[in-house]
Amino acid sequence: MAKLHPDLQNKEFWYKDITLIPNKLPDFERDGVDLTTNFTKKIILKTPLVAAPMDTVCESEMAILMALFGGIGVIHYNFLNIEEQIKEAEIVKRFEAGFVFKPIVLSPQNNIGDVYKIAKKYEFFSIPLTEDGTLNSKLVGIVTHRDVRYRNDMETKLAKIMTSKERLVVASKKDTVDKNDLSLANKILKEKNLDTLPIIDEENRIIALVTDSDMKKNVMYPLATKNDNKQLRVFIAVESRLESAKERIKKGAQVGIDGIVIDASVVFKEQLEIAKWVKKNLPEIDVVLGNVDSAEMVRKIITEVSEYCDAIKVGIGPGAACITQEELGTGRAQASAVLECSQEAKRLEAKYGFFPIIADGGIRITDSPNQDVAKPGDIAKALALGAQTAMMGSLLAGLDESPGEKEFNYEENRMIKKYRGMGSFEAMEKRGALRYGIENAKLKVAEGRVIKVPYRGSGYDFLPRLIAGIKQSFQKQGFRNIKELQENADIRPLYFKK
Ligand code: XMP
Repeated sequence: MAKLHPDLQNKEFWYKDITLIPNKLPDFERDGVDLTTNFTKKIILKTPLVAAPMDTVCESEMAILMALFGGIGVIHYNFLNIEEQIKEAEIVKRFEAGFVFKPIVLSPQNNIGDVYKIAKKYEFFSIPLTEDGTLNSKLVGIVTHRDVRYRNDMETKLAKIMTSKERLVVASKKDTVDKNDLSLANKILKEKNLDTLPIIDEENRIIALVTDSDMKKNVMYPLATKNDNKQLRVFIAVESRLESAKERIKKGAQVGIDGIVIDASVVFKEQLEIAKWVKKNLPEIDVVLGNVDSAEMVRKIITEVSEYCDAIKVGIGPGAACITQEELGTGRAQASAVLECSQEAKRLEAKYGFFPIIADGGIRITDSPNQDVAKPGDIAKALALGAQTAMMGSLLAGLDESPGEKEFNYEENRMIKKYRGMGSFEAMEKRGALRYGIENAKLKVAEGRVIKVPYRGSGYDFLPRLIAGIKQSFQKQGFRNIKELQENADIRPLYFKK
């Protein structure tokens, strides 16, 4: 257990009120730190960072970024319909794979314009062509980026430009998929210098694709969070309403989501019913419950539904766009909430097993465009207090990969992006009211606001710096991993603000 200074015992404190004291003599460099952690009981991340399900934070672009760098994204549900949310999850799933099963196919009767429509939606161009444009008929050819990249004649039939089956290099399902052997497929891709290798069964039907770009992505992002088929992992947020959540989850399962976050500002009783339903009907889907902020709530979840829940999310009102604490007089100082909830989960571990804690909200960092390393002290503190991962909204909302446009703010003389609480009136006008359980109420009370966050540029630049910063904090304290930090951190109060 971390060492907590006596002045902090039974006190309420925020991340800004504490510091982690380095009292060892580190004998390793920053790169010697390993941030591997559990997002859920079974899903391991190499980076303890999670993008919050908010409509100014996480859609497919953010979820792809987070997963490529070893974290994970949760796609919000503030869309006009379920299909739009599921499409975002599908884009993540189709971004990268080992074997791309059930690839999108067209027929030779489709035209170049149809290829561009698919490319616009999913950002890939390699499309196998089958006799009738479904996966049930024979493969007759393929079109790839090379075939269409300089074409403006959108009406031209693919039959005219495709590489036909006779000239195609293909591999058999028997030699690759059936043996779960990606290496043979990759070898053929390299030796024959191909963009795409179709895998077919005995009846010439297309079973899967293996692509050169996937092979490259696998090498470029060694931290990436992937399932066994090398597809990026993604979670979706669902409401705490059993009937609509069921529909969302079933559709999510069809595109291969890895889990759900049942998203509510305070855990609803109905969440437990949803969790049970998921584990009975779709046991491969992980379930995160939340939010909680006390030992009592953690105990209730763990003792009542331990086998239906895979992680617990902590944080009531600490977020940058939250006004729950000011408006409703409820919620809690986040650092003490994370500590108390983690300690309770640990106390129950011997009887009920391990429950990862997600510290949700309240993470602030100091960064400026000119420094090499972002200073993510709050993330190190959340982990030291017992969380396995930190979920963030405002910190990520300023990146290119979050939804929404950057703009110049003349008052502040800098580029900004808009960030809004899901309980703000603006978000509730769509569907955000569900998160607060007030979607049917005529009189709504806002629990969130709309704010501006600094524009932080590309996440592909920012995230590696953030990760380096977390590692640097560990290294300063002499800890090589999260377990060492959690067992030995020396947590003390800061009595004055800098
Ligand atoms: P940060 O501090 O990272 O917090 O911006 C992100 C978390 O804030 C929560 N959230 C809200 N809480 N009213 C609230 O009280 C809101 O309108 C609101 N919107 C988001 C959520 O838990 C998120 O992960």
